[in-house]
Amino acid sequence: MSSIRILPDVLVSQIAAGEVVERPASVVKELIENSLDAGASRIDLTLEAGGVKRIRIADDGAGIAREDLPLALARHATSKIDSLAALERIASYGFRGEALAAIASVARLRIASRERGAAAAFAIEAASGAVAPAALAAGTVIEVADLYFNTPARRKFLKSEATEYAHCIRALRRMALGRCDVAFIVQHNGRDTLRLAPGALAGRLAQCIDEDFAREAREFEAHAGNLRLTGYLLPPAAARTNREAQVLFVNGRFVRDRLLSHALSEAYRDVLYGGRFPGYVLFLELDPTGVDVNVHPAKTEVRLRDAHGVHGFVFHAVRQALAGPRAVPVSGAGTAQAPRAAAAPRQLGLAVEQPVARYLDFVAQGSGGQPTPANVSAAQAAPPLGYALAQLHGIYLLAQNARGLVLVDMHAAHERVLYEKLKRALEQGPPPVQALLVPLVMAADEAVIAAAQEHAATLAALGFELSVAGPAQLALRAVPALLAGAPLPELVRGLLAELAGPGSHHGLDARANELLATMSCHAAVHAHRALAVPEMNALLREMESCERSDQCNHGRPTWVELSLEDLDRLFLRGR
Ligand SMILES: Nc1ncnc2c1ncn2[C@@H]1O[C@H](COP(=O)(O)OP(=O)(O)OP(=O)(O)O)[C@@H](O)[C@H]1O
Ligand SMILES: [Mg+2]
Repeated sequence: MSSIRILPDVLVSQIAAGEVVERPASVVKELIENSLDAGASRIDLTLEAGGVKRIRIADDGAGIAREDLPLALARHATSKIDSLAALERIASYGFRGEALAAIASVARLRIASRERGAAAAFAIEAASGAVAPAALAAGTVIEVADLYFNTPARRKFLKSEATEYAHCIRALRRMALGRCDVAFIVQHNGRDTLRLAPGALAGRLAQCIDEDFAREAREFEAHAGNLRLTGYLLPPAAARTNREAQVLFVNGRFVRDRLLSHALSEAYRDVLYGGRFPGYVLFLELDPTGVDVNVHPAKTEVRLRDAHGVHGFVFHAVRQALAGPRAVPVSGAGTAQAPRAAAAPRQLGLAVEQPVARYLDFVAQGSGGQPTPANVSAAQAAPPLGYALAQLHGIYLLAQNARGLVLVDMHAAHERVLYEKLKRALEQGPPPVQALLVPLVMAADEAVIAAAQEHAATLAALGFELSVAGPAQLALRAVPALLAGAPLPELVRGLLAELAGPGSHHGLDARANELLATMSCHAAVHAHRALAVPEMNALLREMESCERSDQCNHGRPTWVELSLEDLDRLFLRGR
């Protein structure tokens, strides 16, 4: 038993199949991907016994040439890429040349195909490799029977027929959302179960997610540079009790991406009731060289080169969309009725020396930032960002300054202030730490515990004392004093996820900014937290004293000013 040997091909494929073919639904996914890659405009799926007994897929795509049939079944044989360069800007679903070989190693597989323009069709049986003439007008038919017939141990892991069928149809629905130009027809145990005609995405939402989603979702679109995010979002009031209605495509590929789902949950977090989950069908498009698709055996994960930038873009675009429609398009993208661009908000430099100096005198006199009626009317005495008036929809803070109205994105501004404070504290040596009177015990899975242990030194340098308290528990004993009031378990979980994420091998110095950004994002006030007027004024004063406070950590403005003239113009009011 001690000598090293090369495994036989079939065993290699069976090992690969363990990752690629988890259940009938994985076969369905691979076969549909192949049909789509072949340019099919109609795909017929026929299932028996939840796909365990038989999966048959027929398409009207380009077909396979007779001499290529044996290659289609060979491992590492593909028509989709031919070089590393091609892999790096992949535009097809497939690229490994692995799926059919893997399926053929754990089920009985037959392909019949007629290459476009060919005089006849041919079929190949995977078991024998024999090629013979077949009767087929066009396209390709692939039949997969008796899944796991030769690997009984795996067969035991299959669930009931109904469950396996449910997984198959869910996989198909997801892919159909990404390809509304293609017709999909499904039969199960001899009955028609789904029929999707080609058309617009809006028309598919009801059949591929559900009717509530179709009724309540709002169309969405955002761009930034070469990033584009489009699709449908459920408004927070229609949020779900599970994650089923979360469908995300990256460059046309359905993915489950932790980073992107994190960006989306963060964007919704401010506006969701507890225990509710966002719902969305979204398409993220970016330069293919910015995405690595070769990271997961089922091709359902991607790695983004500019993970941080994309995260920020998705988070802000969705968050802004959820803040609700604006009655007046202040951004200047006006409608016919609204004066175009007249009221484009502009940013004020904070270094307005005069008012700051007066403000400092004023604070020195001990009024603590709370205005008295007199100094509000004495307009010149108002600090640059003015005095708080109210909170709007729990998201924006409204203030009056010498020029007019100041609107502040509460979360973004607080996040920025915290970030700068944390950064300054860290630059001056180990940050002040506050011990918790009672250690905070939090549930943690293996991955989180491993991250806590692996990054203990970095955590300590940031001011966190965290230790393992049990097989599934961590105890937090001390935190940076600046964050004492923050929602700690969430913050620590976010921080551990960031530590364990891309770049986990870098030291604190290289990653400090990202880590501080994660901490401040979690610690910053979230929307729908009612702030009292003194708290709002305190935030405004902190913004004035904080460097770069006019941009949030993701480079977006944290506040805008609408002068009285801007407002006059909005109302077409001459002075
Ligand atoms: N429905 C189809 N129509 C036309 N050609 C097909 C079809 N299915 C498979 N093929 C051909 O067979 C080859 C092998 O398919 P297979 O799914 O094993 O690999 P792949 O799609 O290239 O990569 P991956 O393993 O990532 O799916 C494909 O590259 C393609 O040329
Ligand atoms: Mg494939």
